[in-house]
Amino acid sequence: MTSTVLTSISELWTLDPARDDPARPGTVTDEQVVRDAAVVIEDGIIAWTGPSAQAPSADTREDLGGRAVLPGWVDSHTHLVFDGDRAGEFEARMAGEAYAAGGIGVTTSATRAAADERLRDLVRARIAEAARGGTTCLETKTGYGLTVAEELRAARLASQLVADGELDEVTFLGAHLVPSEFDGDADGYVDLVTGEMLKAVAPYVGWIDVFCESGAFTPEQSERVLRAGADAGLGLRVHGNQLGASGGVALAVELGAASVDHVNHLSAADIDALAAARESTVATVLPACDLSTRAPLAPARELLDAGASVAIASNCNPGTSYTSSMSFCVATAVLQMRLTLAEAIRAATRGGAQALHREDVGHLSVGARADLHVLDGPAAIHLAYRPGMPLTHRVWRAGIPLP
Ligand code: NIG
Repeated sequence: MTSTVLTSISELWTLDPARDDPARPGTVTDEQVVRDAAVVIEDGIIAWTGPSAQAPSADTREDLGGRAVLPGWVDSHTHLVFDGDRAGEFEARMAGEAYAAGGIGVTTSATRAAADERLRDLVRARIAEAARGGTTCLETKTGYGLTVAEELRAARLASQLVADGELDEVTFLGAHLVPSEFDGDADGYVDLVTGEMLKAVAPYVGWIDVFCESGAFTPEQSERVLRAGADAGLGLRVHGNQLGASGGVALAVELGAASVDHVNHLSAADIDALAAARESTVATVLPACDLSTRAPLAPARELLDAGASVAIASNCNPGTSYTSSMSFCVATAVLQMRLTLAEAIRAATRGGAQALHREDVGHLSVGARADLHVLDGPAAIHLAYRPGMPLTHRVWRAGIPLP
């Protein structure tokens, strides 16, 4: 057994679930942030937290010099398995073009053309980049293959990275776009996704997702995809209400999906439904995507005020959000979406964990995975106060310091 004690922590954001205030869901209580604190890591797990003056001894000791420590970010929505970029499309968008689902096809062509080793290297480099920004728990989707063989290749690759301890969750997104081979036959493609493709990938994934949107899949097609996934034992996720009132939120709530993501275009009824479903369905907002597509910002403030569970994720992908910086997303949620810092930190840690049905990450209470994000600042508010600055000082994942 090896142990490490980290001392001289100005603010230790434990976010201990046992200290939640049920009357104020989505917020952080005073007891969940320990001042002048220390933490002990033992065999990859948090073994003790408390005042620095009372820190027990351990095999090694490290003084963090008065820095703030957060749980590592939990990024519950990314699309890391791809090749190519779409900088030209982005530039055209900044010049006034609208985002449309069809761009997914461009990345699908580039991804299909990539050799296995290259694709793996690209994904690993993206995971490392996210970790350097404080992300310690990552989900990725497939969805840029769109044939049985290519979706299987992406699912296998990601699942191997989970086995290697680099990645945490894998989601099957065969229903990302109707590929050109099925032009005019979307239902035929849904037959493939819910049949042969699902059967092939199911052993390698824990989740199924669908892009329920105009230009992608109708609510009826989306429901077929999700019900087939549930029958195969997968958890459900939905891309919903990104480009318009797609019906994705209502579907996600009805089927008890763990998360409905994007949620830019919500009616009052959608917000009420998400508030009522706060235990089962998380509303995941994607601030970097909203900026990169010039979409109306998801109403995170209104969702929290109504009592919904909210997560923040990066949506790292080459089309709508080519960043894995959760710190940037948190700063944007504070500066632009009007969340308090505490609400944004909670949404990017505990919120993401809830969206992934994970209890071992997103907090630093005893027994949690030792995923720590040490900020190069004396207080976490620096994340929003000094936006864009490189504020990640050190990162531990499962008790191992990242190089
Ligand atoms: O979450 N909205 C659907 N999927 C991605 C975008 C994918 C792309 O344009 O390549 C998203 O934003």
